[in-house]
Amino acid sequence: MTLSLATQYLGLSLKNPLVASASPLNREIGNLRRLEDVGAGAVVLPSLFEEQIEAEAELHGGLMGAYANSSPEAQSYFPHAISGPYGLGPERYLELVHRARAAVDIPVIASLNGSSIAGWVEYATLIEQAGAAALELNMYHVPTDLTESGRDIEARYTEIVGSICGSVSLPVSIKLTPFLSSIGHFANTLVGCGAGGLVLFNRLLQPDIDLVRLRLADTLELSTPAELRLPLLWTAILSGRTNQACLATSTGVATPADVVKCILAGADVVMTTSAILHGGIEEMRNLVNGLHRWMEEREFAALVEMRGMLSWQRSKDRGIYDRASYLRILERYVAP
Ligand SMILES: Cc1cc2nc3c(=O)[nH]c(=O)nc-3n(C[C@H](O)[C@H](O)[C@H](O)COP(=O)(O)O)c2cc1C
Repeated sequence: MTLSLATQYLGLSLKNPLVASASPLNREIGNLRRLEDVGAGAVVLPSLFEEQIEAEAELHGGLMGAYANSSPEAQSYFPHAISGPYGLGPERYLELVHRARAAVDIPVIASLNGSSIAGWVEYATLIEQAGAAALELNMYHVPTDLTESGRDIEARYTEIVGSICGSVSLPVSIKLTPFLSSIGHFANTLVGCGAGGLVLFNRLLQPDIDLVRLRLADTLELSTPAELRLPLLWTAILSGRTNQACLATSTGVATPADVVKCILAGADVVMTTSAILHGGIEEMRNLVNGLHRWMEEREFAALVEMRGMLSWQRSKDRGIYDRASYLRILERYVAP
């Protein structure tokens, strides 16, 4: 039986649904080539951060504006890159997009990361000119200002997404936080503004407390598979209900079984970072082959046959997704 793992994401044709999500690993062209070799369907570059864009703007004033509509070649006239938190200033970021695009045949998705409108539209245009296949927006924001309402935050995000989607023709996806009061409503608001895809979810980095030094410890822990449950739930709830926008499931995907679950819930693509940082680039091959093997064993010939089989929309027992299941689960619990 010929078996196809092909999928569509953001209007792009991918040979399979495995996407290497944004991480420092994807900053190296050699790693992008290896990811392609071991079977990745697409790659997301690490983000260009709002802080880097602001630093560049402060240093060089209106110079960026003068070149905003120039060709990728002309972008080499930009002043020397500013080292941001990731070591890639805006100029070098555009170069990375350009080089990545030339180095691999799989789609290269660029990423912008911030929480205010500053500079984003201009860079979205430059990223498009540099050759990215799509753009992912990561609006990482922790609402520590207690006077800021959810409505204010959503209005700001909506404005950013609307402005960017209105200024570029490349497809745009939004890496959403799960900490919203109505994820589905907001997701569809963003889709209404032009978002072609939703990444479920962004991972909020949470500091721990160092009991020896009595201070917050902001070290980065890689994700664990236990974290997949939340993205899986929302993939299942949103599948088929976002007016054609694609769904990417992200956070906690570490094994082929996790990948299969994401597709059954309704994911168009499945993203992974921690598994690759932890196990090496070869992990990508393991995930792709594992999905292939599972489909073979279950006699699925194409992803479309299994995608969303266990989604809310196709479920015979929707109670499993809501309060009814909550009560059932609590009642069934037996103390160890
Ligand atoms: C070291 C590291 C760097 C990351 N850099 C970015 C980034 O630049 N932009 C972004 O949107 N996400 C970034 N992420 C988040 C990942 O893309 C991903 O969303 C997150 O790790 C959850 O997926 P996972 O469980 O597969 O690791 C980073 C994660 C790690 C661990």
